[in-house]
Amino acid sequence: MNSYQDSVSTSHAHSFAPLRIRGRSLLPIVQGGMGVGISAHRLAGSVAREGAVGTIASIDLRHHHDDLLAMCREDHSRATLERANLIALAREIEAARALAQGRGMIAVNVMKAVSAHADYVRVACEQGADAIVMGAGLPLDLPDLTQGCDIALIPILSDSRGVTLVLRKWMKKGRLPDAIVIEHPAHAGGHLGVTDLADMRDERFGFERVLRELDALFASLGLERSDVPVIVAGGIDSHDAVRKWLAAGADGVQIGTPFAVTEEGDAHPEFKRVLAEAQPDDIVEFVSVTGLPARAVKTPWLMRYLRNEERIRTKIGARRQPCPSGLECLSVCGLRDGIEKFGHFCIDTRLAAALRGDVGNGLFFRGREKLPFGAAIRSVRDLIELLLTGMTKAAQAAC
Ligand SMILES: Cc1cc2nc3c(=O)[nH]c(=O)nc-3n(C[C@H](O)[C@H](O)[C@H](O)COP(=O)(O)O)c2cc1C
Repeated sequence: MNSYQDSVSTSHAHSFAPLRIRGRSLLPIVQGGMGVGISAHRLAGSVAREGAVGTIASIDLRHHHDDLLAMCREDHSRATLERANLIALAREIEAARALAQGRGMIAVNVMKAVSAHADYVRVACEQGADAIVMGAGLPLDLPDLTQGCDIALIPILSDSRGVTLVLRKWMKKGRLPDAIVIEHPAHAGGHLGVTDLADMRDERFGFERVLRELDALFASLGLERSDVPVIVAGGIDSHDAVRKWLAAGADGVQIGTPFAVTEEGDAHPEFKRVLAEAQPDDIVEFVSVTGLPARAVKTPWLMRYLRNEERIRTKIGARRQPCPSGLECLSVCGLRDGIEKFGHFCIDTRLAAALRGDVGNGLFFRGREKLPFGAAIRSVRDLIELLLTGMTKAAQAAC
């Protein structure tokens, strides 16, 4: 069941045009991929069941599978950890598709900066995911990695310069992106698409400006603007914001943090509580081990790390360290490769602790803006309804 009318009539009555991706008509809402394990099958499948795009973050999904964790404890060779993650991803895609009941779209988010990115792409194709959304690096080789597979390809970029590079390269291969996500580094959660912390508020990332520049870029490449839907991401926290950006020319909005804290979000309730209760002053930007800036909540481990960051950098910054998790998850890692100006901690260990709700030791990625339901934890259906209509059924009944 993929028609837009089916999606709309069964749940959310609103006046927005559908988001069209690779022949499908969808609600104009995309749930952003959130690793490690924050958006797995339950969140992605629940979002897709509403007729929107649900995204599984591919990185290190074994943490949701006790048998795979046991297998990794028995043999913690890198090959076994990688195999466990690929099995976990296949299981999560299958479970999300079952939950979605053929509605909406199941996407798999793959970070280009992750060493196993090509394997994650392959599994997404083999398991019948509907789309691959790739960020944290330029996805120039994505069309080659997906040759022969009928799957939507959606790069995540932050400015029109990045879009120009990807479009020019992909058009030489005879492929257009099926949509593009434009993520604003000043608002989004997790890793941010800038090389320098000081750069994140640069005007070139403003959605109005990017949308305007994309009109000109598409025209110069002989493309219709409707050939490639544009989805804006970062800080979209209300129905008014959804209305504003769709009216300004975006075809969809991608939302991360508000979905992470829904009832169906795959993380521990303590993870959701930390994100939901964080105030603006509790949120901080810092340099991650990927070398990219990132945004997270000031929880005890991060505060300790940031207090000692300078000292850690001087002491071990340029020294190579053994990978603490054994996974060697990143192609380039500040800790393992001894890159002084990058971060120096094990990101996989810290994100996995956050997923388990370990407030003392975890790294809790979060976007900068307030949440649509404040500190309340509500369902995916309520959130989508609020974003699309400005009301929830419960509020309408009360009226
Ligand atoms: C906890 C968390 C984890 C995230 N992990 C990823 C990720 O693995 N890959 C990715 O491309 N984006 C990741 N993001 C970014 C989101 O997909 C989304 O684009 C962004 O958070 C949108 O901003 P918002 O949180 O203000 O809605 C993450 C965001 C959060 C909050």
